[in-house]
Amino acid sequence: MTRRIDEAIRIIKMNDRGGYTVPTNRLYPYQWNWDSGFTALGIWHFNKWRAWLEIMVLLEAQWDDGMVPHIVFRHHDPDYFPGPDIWQSNTEPSTSGHSQPPVLASVILRIVRMGTAYDSRKAREVFPKLMAYHRWFCNARDPQGKGVIGIIHPWESGRDNCPDWDIGMKGITVPDNLMSYARRDTSYVDSDQRPSQAQYDRFITIVQFGREVKWDHRAINARGPFLMADPGVQFILLRACRDLQELAHLLDMDEPIDEIRGWIDRLTTGCDWLWNDDIGGYCARDIRSGDFSNAITNASMLSFFAGVGSSDQRASMVAHCRRILDACWYGMPSWDPEDRNFEPKRYWRGPVWAVMNHMIVAGLVDAGESELASRISSDTRHLVEAHGMAEYFDPLDGTGLGGMDFSWTAAIYLDLCRDEVAPLQIDNIETVLGNFAEGISSHGID
Ligand code: GLC
Repeated sequence: MTRRIDEAIRIIKMNDRGGYTVPTNRLYPYQWNWDSGFTALGIWHFNKWRAWLEIMVLLEAQWDDGMVPHIVFRHHDPDYFPGPDIWQSNTEPSTSGHSQPPVLASVILRIVRMGTAYDSRKAREVFPKLMAYHRWFCNARDPQGKGVIGIIHPWESGRDNCPDWDIGMKGITVPDNLMSYARRDTSYVDSDQRPSQAQYDRFITIVQFGREVKWDHRAINARGPFLMADPGVQFILLRACRDLQELAHLLDMDEPIDEIRGWIDRLTTGCDWLWNDDIGGYCARDIRSGDFSNAITNASMLSFFAGVGSSDQRASMVAHCRRILDACWYGMPSWDPEDRNFEPKRYWRGPVWAVMNHMIVAGLVDAGESELASRISSDTRHLVEAHGMAEYFDPLDGTGLGGMDFSWTAAIYLDLCRDEVAPLQIDNIETVLGNFAEGISSHGID
């Protein structure tokens, strides 16, 4: 299969809007939180300085309370819904009102491990912001300190339309005074790949509640229309806390270690609450009713990434992983293909995402499951090489779906091909100067 390295770099550059990268042209015209995290990792392989800029620009939108929002609006694009006028964050820049899976610390640890003194210096610069972000997540999203993180909107999971949220969404009453709105997503993508109208009304109901309480996260946690525990966010945050701890160690920033250790212990305990005995795996759960979602998703498979589970639980997750991979051509689908709700083409109800695969693979490698890891990693590479940098892919026939020329798919592909990308280009003088200056200071010349 032919490599698509030049194409991946070209797509990322094409989606550059001056300091940040949009997920794809038109469908997603702003900066998205975890998209930028993964995209920075891809960019890093061909332009270190620009990769750090991506991260710094995202963190510039961090709220005073530490939250890093899920979308940053630096301009108004009338073609996107819901935009800044709907969220009404009252921040500068305008943003959405909740967060997204916190992948930044894990991305930065990867970069620091692969990089030079320049990367360590940049990581030291952003470290306090990462601490504030994690502190916000562990407090605002778990005010009772149980170790179970609650998401307040399906969009906070990053797996926006997954059937996991059906339980929480069912409980939402759409108010009579719901703002009138016209969605724009179905103008770009077939409606059979996007959420239904009834679902969309509920999404907007949550946004309306948030802005009515002026994005007071205590009030949203206590009385908001939706509060669910997501194995994705839970596992990604736990892994990010472990990675933050490792970063603190590598960067010689040892004073916050106790605080991070506290988060890790609490979150590790909290993971047990997501174990669904009927399924023999980790599933999403409604925090208020305790009701479980009843299927394995690609987020369940991140338990290895978080490093959790007894040996029986791990064995059960490995068995699910093998069974699911055997049931489709390309892993890892976002919903169990043997479940009746599986829809191979509908957004988060079946398709494969390269970024989820990237984290699942890292977890499986850590767990010593190298055969499963390399199956998923070669599926990812194959999907991109055969079908291009699509937003997501059909696990049964590989078709590329959703938006095309997608930044994070290109970024993950570059990371997979990193050995071939590395020598290609150093296209920013600041990187060279930064490394040069670090080189001098590390030799004690200054
Ligand atoms: C969709 C995805 C979300 C992603 C965004 C931009 O909303 O569900 O995870 O961040 O697109 O790519």
